[in-house]
Amino acid sequence: MHSVTVCGIGYVGLVTSACLSRAGHDVVAYDTDVTKISQLQHGRLPIYEPNLRELVEAQCASGRLRFTASAAEAFEACDVVFIAVGTPTTRLGDADLTYVRQAARDIAQRAVGEVVVVNKSTVPVETVDLVARLLEREGTGRARFAVASNPEFLREGSAVEDFLHPDRIVIGTDDERAAALLRDLYAEIDAPVLVVDPHTAEMVKYAANAFLAAKISFVNEIASLCDAVGADVEGVLAGMALDHRIGEQYMRPGLGFGGSCLPKDVSALAHAAREHAIEPTLMDAVLDVNRRQVPRLIRKIRSVAGEIEGTRTGVLGLAFKAGTDDVRESPSVALIEELLACGSSVSVHDPAAMPNARRTLGDRVEYAADPYDALRGAHVAIVATEWPEYRALDWRRAATLMAGTAVFDPRAALDSASLAGTNLIYIGSAHDAPGVSV
Ligand code: UGA
Repeated sequence: MHSVTVCGIGYVGLVTSACLSRAGHDVVAYDTDVTKISQLQHGRLPIYEPNLRELVEAQCASGRLRFTASAAEAFEACDVVFIAVGTPTTRLGDADLTYVRQAARDIAQRAVGEVVVVNKSTVPVETVDLVARLLEREGTGRARFAVASNPEFLREGSAVEDFLHPDRIVIGTDDERAAALLRDLYAEIDAPVLVVDPHTAEMVKYAANAFLAAKISFVNEIASLCDAVGADVEGVLAGMALDHRIGEQYMRPGLGFGGSCLPKDVSALAHAAREHAIEPTLMDAVLDVNRRQVPRLIRKIRSVAGEIEGTRTGVLGLAFKAGTDDVRESPSVALIEELLACGSSVSVHDPAAMPNARRTLGDRVEYAADPYDALRGAHVAIVATEWPEYRALDWRRAATLMAGTAVFDPRAALDSASLAGTNLIYIGSAHDAPGVSV
């Protein structure tokens, strides 16, 4: 059992805290945001994530997980600290390391004894050196530090499962003590452990996210082409996925990748490449294809449903993907902004993300109590997030409520057969739709 402090209780920090506590360690979850900590102490989670609330409750009850805004409580009695603070993108496209620097200073000033400091935030290559320098420079002499990078690969919506059953654990350090401690820390988790130098570990994270993003942009470009030549993209992708060198993961076309990670990390990698005088041709193309997906859908709506101005659109799904309440860089929100700019009135529904979306969209859209309500009077329906709830909708009922007949399903969230027997016309990634009325 180790005494672990997790510094920065955002998405990664909270999941890491709860899961390491479940693995048997004594965990202090620290954040400088006093309000957030107070809410967590009262059992209120700042994010929606399947199974996380139950896990946090159970770990707090076991006494192995506690939340604090006190730096003294956080750093004076731990043998490992995870830095999991935010690294927002600056206007220039690189990562803002203000919070990482602050965390390193706080640790340096408080820690005592042998302490391993581990970077879990997604940070530019070489940030581990910055942390090591700050610990050295600001340290009080009461602690001996070793540093490591230990990138996190969890996905929102399946974060707990991903943490407890990862494909791999990557440990980046040149320090044997740090490597041994981290191996021990993860001993309960059954996954291959890769120990590399810190810069390699930092790069693994960016390269993995950029590769996933590249796959998505690739299939989106193929989907556009299928549309143009009259091929069925689903069939094309099924035919590709059977080649085990290709597979089916991250091969779903849609509205483009969103969220707080893929767009940000591809931009940061492109920025880093330019700083090293390498032209990031592929990264730029990945981002460029991604930016084209919402305009592509808008063009499609125009081409099958006529003018958008003066229509009413029902949008089902606001989160950047199913299983989360996160709307950061959500393609659905970008789509709604476009629809509003084109003069449509928009009514929206999401099972989890409406409060977060309201912060961005305000009262410019109507928030429906349920999906049917969102479709009432709609000339066009769009399923923008692949929530399972929408697949289970009664489209006969929806058809009686809608004013038009077009149902756009850019993420292939629906079974097109479920619209059979209605006057609704299904328009997936590779469907044109003669006879649509708005
Ligand atoms: C992503 C990575 O998948 C994680 O491994 C990584 O740890 C995380 O970023 C991070 O850096 O913290 P996440 O952003 O939670 O995880 O979401 P993903 O499930 O990867 O989806 C990202 C976006 O791609 C979503 O908008 C999703 O709808 C879209 N997507 C995904 C597709 O359009 N097609 C696909 O086939 C898969």
